[in-house]
Amino acid sequence: MDINKTMQDAFNKQIEAEFWSSNLYLAMAFWFRKEGWNGFASWLFKQADEEKEHALDMADYLITRGGVPEMSAIPAVKNDWNDPKEVFEAVLKHEQHVTDLINKLADVADAEKDRASQNFIDKYIDEQVEEEKNVRDILLLFKQMPQHAVAHIDRKVGERE
Ligand code: FEO
Repeated sequence: MDINKTMQDAFNKQIEAEFWSSNLYLAMAFWFRKEGWNGFASWLFKQADEEKEHALDMADYLITRGGVPEMSAIPAVKNDWNDPKEVFEAVLKHEQHVTDLINKLADVADAEKDRASQNFIDKYIDEQVEEEKNVRDILLLFKQMPQHAVAHIDRKVGERE
């Protein structure tokens, strides 16, 4: 059965959000490069690629279901931050917002009784749990920074087999 218009519109809104996320992470990566933080920049370039992949995957799903992916204008993103920790706090906040959007997309699939879309969206619900955790782990490293010697002992102790 072809995807219905309500579900298609909801997916197209999410595709726009995924491209916006990709642009936001690119802007963050550029900022890190400018400031000379190449490791952080590399992480964010990969994150930006992942968001674009999400958008393409959703567009592909729409086509598979007889729908039409529509490209819309992507609103501008922020381009400046004060320090690395502030950037990763913004990443976590943004991923929590994306989780909210994915949950709403799942609500539309439930309301439309679209089983195939429910199934498709499930992997993004799992993905968001993973993405939020990854950023929380980075923020934990910032939190432990004043105790980096203790963190070193922690890693050594953790090597026990
Ligand atoms: Fe496409 Fe980070 O969610």
